[in-house]
Amino acid sequence: MSKRAWWKEAVAYQIYPKSFYDSNGDGVGDLPGIIAKLDVLKTLGVDVLWLTPVYASPEVDNGYDISDYQAINPRFGTMTDFEHLLAEAHRRGLKVIMDLVVNHTSDQHPWFVESRQSRDNPYRDYYIWRDGKEGREPNNWGGHFTQSAWSFDAATGQYYLHIFSPQQPDLNWENPVVRQEVRRIIEWWLDKGIDGFRLDAINLIAKAPGLPDNRGEGRYIFSIEHFCNQPRFHDYMQELNRAVFARHDMLTVGECADLKVEDAIAVSAPERGELNMAFLFEHTDYYNMVGKDAQKLKEILTRWQQGLHGRGWAGIAFNNHDQPRVVSCFGDDSHYRVESAKLFATLLLTLEGTPFLFQGEEIGMTNAVYATIEEYNDVQTVNLYREWVAAGEDPQAAFEAVRATSRDRGRSPYHWSAAPNAGFTTGRPWIGVNPNYIDINLEANLADPDSIFHYYRKMIALRKATPALIYGEFIPQEAPTQLYVYQRVHADQRYQIVLNLSDETVEYVCAGRRLIGNYPETEKQRLQPYEAGVFALE
Ligand code: GLC
Repeated sequence: MSKRAWWKEAVAYQIYPKSFYDSNGDGVGDLPGIIAKLDVLKTLGVDVLWLTPVYASPEVDNGYDISDYQAINPRFGTMTDFEHLLAEAHRRGLKVIMDLVVNHTSDQHPWFVESRQSRDNPYRDYYIWRDGKEGREPNNWGGHFTQSAWSFDAATGQYYLHIFSPQQPDLNWENPVVRQEVRRIIEWWLDKGIDGFRLDAINLIAKAPGLPDNRGEGRYIFSIEHFCNQPRFHDYMQELNRAVFARHDMLTVGECADLKVEDAIAVSAPERGELNMAFLFEHTDYYNMVGKDAQKLKEILTRWQQGLHGRGWAGIAFNNHDQPRVVSCFGDDSHYRVESAKLFATLLLTLEGTPFLFQGEEIGMTNAVYATIEEYNDVQTVNLYREWVAAGEDPQAAFEAVRATSRDRGRSPYHWSAAPNAGFTTGRPWIGVNPNYIDINLEANLADPDSIFHYYRKMIALRKATPALIYGEFIPQEAPTQLYVYQRVHADQRYQIVLNLSDETVEYVCAGRRLIGNYPETEKQRLQPYEAGVFALE
């Protein structure tokens, strides 16, 4: 069993503030709005709130483009509001972690504004500037949000690197002064009393020495192997850990793309002194981009559960602000929405790893779909659409394609009630509210003892009261393909989790005493579509 820690026993809840609750009618969620809703989060039973960025930002990428790390975006409120939120959360026993976005800054950050002025100024080396090669970009790396990861800056005649949008220039972590600035920002927030960080895109901070071309085919190639999980990434984490993290009782979770089990161990094994945990994405990437095969999902999750046990630690989520809602893309949000939402609650809260809920999942919110490109806000969606249309693609075909992967699917405003705009705002929401809020909302969930919300609440309570569900060994069981059956075993406690990942009725005899389940009762011989249950084996 891994050593006990509060951040392993905690259940976290991700707030996307812009879409959470708008207290002043400007159409945008805000910090006083979060304060107003803390009690219901406490009722749900979560212990840690992760706020996606609320810092000063031109909001090209909804706050993941920071122009001042020590200021609050006025759209969200003031620093006093933030301090108030922190105090109110702490008073209720809720911890607060912030998003630390230090792979890049906004192009409006004073460092970049200075950096681009001339080739020789103290801020030039804060970013990654290079000469072009034969009239083209310095190398053929493709970006996340643009075809090329480089933009030319005419003022000084060089290109700068941006893995994300051109308004998000990458910081140069090779420069020790940059690393010192990052430490200073982290300490400043810790001094304010926050309880940790989610480190954005953190395993992209170290680029391959010499920034080599990708040898694959094509003009621009998304070159993850040249800027992801580089050895220097681990050096930088160890340096930060020695200087700051190890001196605080805090939670650190890395958003790490393209991880293999060994990479996740490297970043989270306690003896390596880097981060507490890394988020896992292989399963979300699978159902987001590849398919809906139960066997494959089981294979991915089982490999991670067995690989990390006793060696590292993970943050587990099935939804976040970059992903579609799992109930819509792996569950069934038309016929079995309630059942499949509860099934994913059961899965999330019975795996090893710190569970992270994403706002709205606890009431069964579904993917948002908008009718025109103008209704989309996601920089990735909008940039790709523009690039494809400029390259001659049919606009409707381009729209269908970007809509199918848009990150706005999970970013629509929270459904508080059946009041206009789901009770999210009295103004005009910054992005469309999903019209199904009339049926799917918190008020209705609270009033119904069998709701998804109350199921999450009970599942969270069960996890917290059951060490085996937190620390126990994960032992997969033989079962028909549609079913995912595993045990969590710790000391003399043994629990069996049974999940029907399909919309079929499947023959199966469940052993043990049912502690919780998403149907009124589990029948002796068979499981209903998307049925889920936790059984104690005595
Ligand atoms: C992370 C964030 C995402 C953002 C990107 C760039 O992946 O989760 O929303 O666009 O980093 O900061």
